[in-house]
Amino acid sequence: MNTVTENVSLSAGLDMSNFWMPFTANKQFKAAPRLLKGAKGMYYTTVDDRQVLDGSAGLWCVNAGHGRPEIIEAVRRQMTDMDFAPTFQMAHPLAFEAATRVAQVMPAGMDRIFFSNSGSEAVDTALKIAVAYHRSRGEGQRTRLIGRERGYHGVGFGGITVGGISANRKAFSGVMIPGADHLPHTWNLQEMAYSKGQPAWGGHLAEELERIVALHDASTIAAVIVEPVAGSTGVLIPPQGYLQKLREICTKHGILLIFDEVITGFGRLGKATAAEFFGVTPDLLTMAKAINNASIPMSAVAAKREIHDTIVNAGAANAIELFHGYTYSAHPTAAAACIATQDIYRDEKLFDRAAGLAPTFERAIHALRGEPFVKDVRNLGLMGAVEVESRDGAPGTRGYDIFVKCFQKGVLVRYTGDILAFSPPLIATEAQIEEIFATVKSVLHEVS
Ligand SMILES: Cc1ncc(COP(=O)(O)O)c(C=O)c1O
Repeated sequence: MNTVTENVSLSAGLDMSNFWMPFTANKQFKAAPRLLKGAKGMYYTTVDDRQVLDGSAGLWCVNAGHGRPEIIEAVRRQMTDMDFAPTFQMAHPLAFEAATRVAQVMPAGMDRIFFSNSGSEAVDTALKIAVAYHRSRGEGQRTRLIGRERGYHGVGFGGITVGGISANRKAFSGVMIPGADHLPHTWNLQEMAYSKGQPAWGGHLAEELERIVALHDASTIAAVIVEPVAGSTGVLIPPQGYLQKLREICTKHGILLIFDEVITGFGRLGKATAAEFFGVTPDLLTMAKAINNASIPMSAVAAKREIHDTIVNAGAANAIELFHGYTYSAHPTAAAACIATQDIYRDEKLFDRAAGLAPTFERAIHALRGEPFVKDVRNLGLMGAVEVESRDGAPGTRGYDIFVKCFQKGVLVRYTGDILAFSPPLIATEAQIEEIFATVKSVLHEVS
C-alpha cells in the first residue's frame, strides 16, 4: 500500500510525514508536492525558483497582493511593542481602532464588530449571536438555523451544520446541531450556462424559504445564512432579485439574515462588501481572509447596532453579556495588520480598481467558451469559474489535472471537483488577467 511515510523519501530531504494537511489528498500531495517559498505582488516563488502568477489570491484572501511592506512594518512594530495582550477584561487600543476601521466600510448601521481568527470561527460566532439575540428579546425558542445546499461556512460544527457540502458533513452527520434545514442551491446549468454577471433565472428560488418557514414555523427559526456569492463550491452567482427576496422574507418573519462574506468581503465584487454591491443589508455579516490581507489569522462579525444593543443592554452593568470569545480575538499583530490593510484599500482605491478590472476579467474568462471540455463559464466582479465536463466514472480528475498543469506553467488557480475558480488579487493588471486565462486555454488543449 502506498503510505504517507513511504512517500517521505520522495520529497528531497524534507520530512513531510508530520504535517497532516488540511483539505488535501495527503498521499497524492506528498508523492508530488507543490511547495512555495516566497511571495511578492502578484507572484509566488516555488522552492525550485519558478515564478507563479497568483490567480486565486492565495485562497481568496490576499486582495492587496503579496508582501506589502506597509503591513510587514505594522506587524513588525506591533510585535516589538507588544506581542500579545488579552481582550478578556483587558484590551489594547489597536483592537478598538481596527473595529472602527472595519465598521467604516460595513453597510450603514452594521458597526459593532466581534473579532475572531478564521472564517469558521466568524460563522460560529454569528450563529451564536443570532441565537443569543433572540433569547435576549424573550424568544429563546428561536434556535433553528437555515443554511443552503452547496454553501460553505467553514468547518466548525455550526458551519458544517448550515453548510451544504455533503463530503464535509457525512462523517459528522450524527453530531451536528439539531434542527437545521437548508434552502436549495441556486445553480442550474440549463437555465444559467454562460451567464455574465447575475443570471436572470432563479430569483424565485428564494421563495423556498417560505416553504421552510411554513414547515417549521417562524417562531422556531433564528437565522438564515448564505454566501451572497457561493465561492467554494464553484462561484455560484445569485440570480437577479434572489438576495432581495431572501431579505424580504427574513424581515417579514423576524428571522435574522447572515451574509457570509469571508470571500466577498473587502473588494472582491468591486465594493467593500457584497451587501453594498447588491444593495441588500443583512443583520450579521461574517468576514475574514482579506480583512488584513491574510497576513495574520483574523476574522470578524459585523452586527447591526440593534442586535448588539439588545444583547449588551440585557444584563446588569457588571455582567458579561455574551459568553463567547477567543484568546486571540483582536490579537495585536492581527489588528495592526488589519489597520495597515484598510489603509492600503483606501489609499489605493483597490475596491474601485477591482470594479474597473471586472469587464476585462469577464471578457477574458468568457473567451474560454467553446474550448475543449468547457461546459459553463460564470463571473461577477473579480471572481469567476470555468466548469469542465467530468471524466466518465472519475469526477474531479480532469479539474485536478488542469490545476496541476496550470501550476507547472506558472499560474495558480483553484479547483473544486471539475470547476476551476479564479479570484486574482485586486492589484492585478489587465495583462496578468489575460495571462491567467491564456494559460488555462492552452492547458485545456493539453488535457485529455
Ligand atoms: C464563505 C466562507 N465561510 C467560511 C470559510 C471558512 O474560513 P476558514 O477556512 O478561515 O475557517 C470560508 C473559507 O473559504 C468561506 O469561503
